[in-house]
Amino acid sequence: MTDATTMRADDLAALREETAAQLAAAADLRAWDAVRVGVLGRGGRLTALLKALGALPPEARRERGAALNRLKAELEAAIEARRAELEAAALEARLAAERLDVTLPPRPHPPLGAEAGAIHPISRTMEELVAIFGAMGFRVAEGPDIESDWHNFGALNIPEHHPARQDHDTFYLPPGPDGRRPVLRTHTSPVQIRTMLTQPPPIRVIVPGRTWRADHDATHSPMFHQVEGLVIDRAITLGHLKGCLIDFLRAFFGIADLPVRFRASYFPFTEPSMEVDIGWNRRTGELGKGGDWLEILGSGMVHPRVLANCGLDPREWQGFAFGMGVERITMLKHGMADLRPFYESDVRWLRHYGADPLSPPSLAEGV
Ligand code: DAH
Repeated sequence: MTDATTMRADDLAALREETAAQLAAAADLRAWDAVRVGVLGRGGRLTALLKALGALPPEARRERGAALNRLKAELEAAIEARRAELEAAALEARLAAERLDVTLPPRPHPPLGAEAGAIHPISRTMEELVAIFGAMGFRVAEGPDIESDWHNFGALNIPEHHPARQDHDTFYLPPGPDGRRPVLRTHTSPVQIRTMLTQPPPIRVIVPGRTWRADHDATHSPMFHQVEGLVIDRAITLGHLKGCLIDFLRAFFGIADLPVRFRASYFPFTEPSMEVDIGWNRRTGELGKGGDWLEILGSGMVHPRVLANCGLDPREWQGFAFGMGVERITMLKHGMADLRPFYESDVRWLRHYGADPLSPPSLAEGV
C-alpha cells in the first residue's frame, strides 16, 4: 500500500465517521436532509470523490472506485436508517400530542346550591317505577287528563249510580255535544281501557300520570299522581300478579324481605280484587318490621266485563291490574309526613328532597 492510498483510505474513514456523527446529531427530518444532501447531493462530499475518480490512472481508479462504491452503499444505508428512526419518533410525538384521555372522570359538580337543579321527588319516584317495571318488560302508556265519563267509569264497570262514583269526588266539566259531562280523570285506570282498545294483547304497561279529585287535606290534594299497571295475555294468573307486585315493592323500598300481604277487597273493574299491604311499625314508621300492616295499593284480575268492553274475549285473554298513589309511596319511602309541600315550590324543601339529576335511577345501583 502506498502513502497516497493510505491517505485516501483515511479520507474515506473520516467521511464515514463524520457522516455518522452528523446523522446522530440530526434531531429532525430537516436536519437529516441537510446531512443527506451534504454527502450524496450534487455538490456532496461523496459525489465529489466519485467525480475525482476520472483523473486517476486506470489501476488506481478500479481499486478506489470499488472502495468508494462500498462506502456509498454503507452511507446510503446509514442515512436511510436514520430517516426511519426520525420518522418513527415524529409519529410517536404526534400520537402523544393528539392522545385523547378517555378515562377523564366526570367534572365535579357543585352540591345542590342556588344555581343547581334537582329532580322533584314525584318525578324521581316515577323514574324509579319506570326503571323497575321496565326491567320486567313493561312499557309506559299515557292518556289525557280530561276523560269521557265512559273511559273513566262506564268501561271500567262502574255504572251510572254506582256508589264508587261518589267515592271519587269527581271534577266535572260542562257537558259536551253528546250531553255528557267530561271529567278530570279520577284515576289512571281509564288508560287501561285506552290501551286495550288501541293495541292487541299481549299487553304489559304502566301508566304514571296526573289524577284529580275534589279533596284537600294533609294527605290529599285535588291534583295528585297515580301509577296504573296492566298485564293482558293468555293464561295469566293471580300468581303472576303476586310475584310481580312483591318484586316491585321490595325493589322500590329497597328491602329484600319486605313483608307483603294480599287482602281480599272490592273494585268494580277487577274480580277477584285485592288490597296489598306491606309490613311496618305503626309507632316508629319504620318499614319492613314491626308486625303492623299498611295498605299500599289496589289490584286484581281484570274483570271479564272490562275485557269485553274493550273487545277482548275473556275466555281467551286474562290479566291483572293494579294502581297506587305516587305521592303516598314517595312519602313512605322518604318518611315525609305531609303531602302539601310537594306542590308548594319551596326551594328549601325541594333542595332537601330533590334528587341529583346526574344520578338517574338504575336497577344496577339498587334504584
Ligand atoms: N283505580 C283505583 C283507585 O283509583 C286503584 C286501582 C285499584 C287500580 C285496583 C287498579 C286496580 O288497576 O286493579 O283507587
